[in-house]
Amino acid sequence: MSGAELSSNDAERLRAFERHGHDALATSYHDFFSAITGLAINPLLEAAHLRLGTRLLDVATGPGALAAEAANRGVRAVGIDLSPRMIELAQRLYPKIEYRVADVEHLPFPDQTFGAVVCAFGLGHFPRPELAVAECVRVLSRGGRVALAWWDDPSRQRIQGIFREAIADIGVSAPLDVPQGHNVFRYSNSGEFLRLLHGVGLTDVKVTEHTTSYLIPDTEALWQGGLGSLVLTGALIRNQDQASRDAIRAAFERRASVYRSADGLKLPIAFKVGAGQRPA
Ligand SMILES: C[S@@+](CC[C@H](N)C(=O)[O-])C[C@H]1O[C@@H](n2cnc3c(N)ncnc32)[C@H](O)[C@@H]1O
Repeated sequence: MSGAELSSNDAERLRAFERHGHDALATSYHDFFSAITGLAINPLLEAAHLRLGTRLLDVATGPGALAAEAANRGVRAVGIDLSPRMIELAQRLYPKIEYRVADVEHLPFPDQTFGAVVCAFGLGHFPRPELAVAECVRVLSRGGRVALAWWDDPSRQRIQGIFREAIADIGVSAPLDVPQGHNVFRYSNSGEFLRLLHGVGLTDVKVTEHTTSYLIPDTEALWQGGLGSLVLTGALIRNQDQASRDAIRAAFERRASVYRSADGLKLPIAFKVGAGQRPA
């Protein structure tokens, strides 16, 4: 499925769902998921071609680690996120960095404020990704770079994959407050990702693939971690009656057990980094 643009009504529903979902899960997200999304920090900062003193914006910063690591490397970093609880958490974790509540479609900065704009795992959460990325380019100076990370297909990105396949095995439906036309995995496809970056006028555009693995102690830790971090998947599972939840859990156990090793569950992680430059 490619992603037809959402109606403005559906876009607002998704925005509200995202804000409430990430507000509710901010702490559990950080406890489980920040170490996993953090695997994209190095590739993103490399793709942004930072120089000492560059002004960098981290969009959809969540608990703020990407902005904080950029600041460690000598750039002036600011993080924004739609979720006030995520921003509170980021500010508590990294008090020296500036974080603000803001929507990616309305960044509270003048044109050409930043030398680099980065975003780790925001794209599939944005109701209108084309508008979101165009707004990132607006605040980027000429010659500045955008670098965005998004998950690879669930067949290769197994944390989301195991949950999604377990839900599909049982055949339950999505919660009513999630717009149906939204395709979270649209930019797992490199062709779509490249089209998005070219479409906002970037040059020197590239999409690179990154694979690794991540060790999780056991299926209980993965189940609790996934429910506490993945807003859509968590809402879908919590929305079911007890019998369906139990059936999803049993399917999840079967699928997760494939990755058992002597040290725990060794899960394949796969994401893409798309980057480009605003013409000088
Ligand atoms: C998967 S988390 C990524 C967080 C962080 N970048 C990381 O790598 O862990 C997605 C984030 O996107 C934020 N978000 C969702 N919709 C947004 C929007 N319209 N504008 C800004 N942030 C948004 C959520 O609040 C959430 O913190």
